Amino acid sequence: MHLRTSGIFIQSAARDFKRTGAIAPSSRPLAQSMTQQLATHGCRPVHVLEVGGGTGNITSEISRYLSADDRLDVFEIDPRLAGLLRRRVRDEFAATARGARISVHSKAIELISLRPRYDFIISCLPFTNFQPNGVRKIFEIYQAVLKPGGFCSFYEYMFVRRAAGLVSSGPARQRCAGVSRVVREYLDRYCFDRDVVFRNLPPATVYHIRFDGRFARG
Ligand SMILES: C[S@@+](CC[C@H](N)C(=O)[O-])C[C@H]1O[C@@H](n2cnc3c(N)ncnc32)[C@H](O)[C@@H]1O
Repeated sequence: MHLRTSGIFIQSAARDFKRTGAIAPSSRPLAQSMTQQLATHGCRPVHVLEVGGGTGNITSEISRYLSADDRLDVFEIDPRLAGLLRRRVRDEFAATARGARISVHSKAIELISLRPRYDFIISCLPFTNFQPNGVRKIFEIYQAVLKPGGFCSFYEYMFVRRAAGLVSSGPARQRCAGVSRVVREYLDRYCFDRDVVFRNLPPATVYHIRFDGRFARG
């Protein structure tokens, strides 16, 4: 990846680490794991939602699995990162995506209109840094905008929330425990597959969920 892209990401993280939630852009192995459902599906056209596009490393991988008539909406709350994403869409991803329509929305995912229209959601949001109610609200949004039978993939950095819970105290500790409870509740109900990606900074676990629960492992 271009040095300037990493630079913009690091500046965003330094400005607002709570929202950015990472120390480095996503690696290619993480992007491959996040897109594996999209890569292996057989239906066309597809509508994909990416949440928290950041520098576009995962957008780049998504674009490889798109073609004409497909559609990708990317929500990115940070205006600088959204600007970078728009440039990368124009200069790099538009060609890879073979005529698919890619739109970058420079706004919070909480502002999306709640209509079921996506086949895939690829979520890069740093849940560990959010309030438990905020995480629940985001899962409810995903459930509302995903079509029946659609797939949602998201990742969490390994051990980070547990470590944050251990080193913090009082309200911060309660917040971490609350986020864990909400994430666990959704995983118990809807997760059908997970991968561990060590080649990422920091290593991450990727979760794949379906809200109809057809493949939940119980
Ligand atoms: C962990 S970073 C994503 C990294 C990205 N995959 C990459 O490779 O650059 C999380 C991103 O989510 C964005 N974000 C945080 N809260 C958001 C929200 N409520 N709606 C949309 N984007 C959000 C942040 O600005 C940040 O770019």
